[in-house]
Amino acid sequence: MGTHDVLWPDSARWEALIAEFARRAQHAGFGLVLNPMFEDAAVFTRGIGDESDVVRKEMYEFEDRGGRAVALRPEGTASVVRAFVQHRPPVPWRAWYVTPAFRYERPQAGRYKQHHQLGVEVLGTDDPDVDVEVIVLAADFYRWLGLRRVELAVNSMGCARCRPAYLAALGHYLEEHRQELCDEHRDRYTANPLRVLDCKRAPCRAATEHAPRITDFLDEACAAHLARVRGGLEALDVAYRMDPRLVRGLDYYTRTTFEFAATSLTAAQNAVGGGGRYDGLAEAIGGPPSPGIGFGIGIERLLLACDAEGVFPLDAPVPDVFVVDVTGGEAARDVTAELRRAGLGAVRAYDGRSLKAQLKAADRSGASVAVIVGPEELAAGTVTLRPMRGPGPQEAVPRAGLVERLTGPAGGPREGVRT
Ligand code: HAM
Repeated sequence: MGTHDVLWPDSARWEALIAEFARRAQHAGFGLVLNPMFEDAAVFTRGIGDESDVVRKEMYEFEDRGGRAVALRPEGTASVVRAFVQHRPPVPWRAWYVTPAFRYERPQAGRYKQHHQLGVEVLGTDDPDVDVEVIVLAADFYRWLGLRRVELAVNSMGCARCRPAYLAALGHYLEEHRQELCDEHRDRYTANPLRVLDCKRAPCRAATEHAPRITDFLDEACAAHLARVRGGLEALDVAYRMDPRLVRGLDYYTRTTFEFAATSLTAAQNAVGGGGRYDGLAEAIGGPPSPGIGFGIGIERLLLACDAEGVFPLDAPVPDVFVVDVTGGEAARDVTAELRRAGLGAVRAYDGRSLKAQLKAADRSGASVAVIVGPEELAAGTVTLRPMRGPGPQEAVPRAGLVERLTGPAGGPREGVRT
């Protein structure tokens, strides 16, 4: 089907991944933006380009009951820019997001009909230092995860002034090599010659090996922009290679484009993130000219790359305390609530299970301490604390002092509880 469920404990990795990305994005001055899952289809056709594969072949587009053409978001950028155009926040505007994205593709490992992206967008500045910041944010995130086999490729797509000359040269070249192109592009290359460079099929790849390079056609301003970005990456020790064929699959790009490939994954699905500048996108969506740049990282692929490198292992969260109650359940109900209100992770068993079954569940839960309430404890107004990980004696604690015993005096260490 190309969709999937993420259940606990696997989802613990998603939580950790998203939380760390959020933390890093916030530190870099980004705020969270939430957009609808569907938009007027024109946001994507105009924004991404109706000659892109994403719009032509992959978009989930339908008419709603009001006869309006809508589409599920195939990516994050066009919606974020639509929101920017609509709300006109002060610039530079820096937004991060985590979103599902929908593309009708043939499902295979690393390629889904619904995938999820982490991303950032900056609108309102064309300062090349922002390009560097955005790339470094992604590169440092991969490093934090422990990924070492991720390679960064960079290119420039030029701008509305210098690209026409390049497109003319490329079109001329493709005309000469038309017969060598794949079946699809032999007839379609004129509609958007750049798509041929992005084509993954062997005939197109071979035929375009010696095609003109966009970097030879950049005007002075675009060349200076690229030089500043490259200088920034070098100053900040971000390894990259120039790839003049990197045009990416969305038509809105101008100037800087980049992609991160995990060499541990199969080549066809090894892009674990990509992005670039889109200085004309806000205008295409009906707003004022507002340059922008951003990236999207595919969460599923990123986790596949982590698995392939054996990094960012699953570390399912464990509760601090497991409450065992063999006196009817009221004590477990009350103690669990009390501990949770005090900020501890507390879980319990239900359905009046036996002591043995509850202790087994306590062990399986990974909690560091079991709080046991039996008839004797109930009568004496105490609970028994039993360390579940490592040695240490059992201990009777007055029920009224339990929270303090587990959390320690205000600000003090939490004895017996793994922090
Ligand atoms: P994109 O390269 O189309 O760019 O997608 C970004 C990332 O999403 C890819 O590198 C990949 O990791 C993941 N991805 C894409 N399609 C699939 C799929 N079918 N299944 C699994 N993962 C997938 C964008 O979407 C742009 N909006 C990025 C951007 C932001 N450019 C500027 N700002």
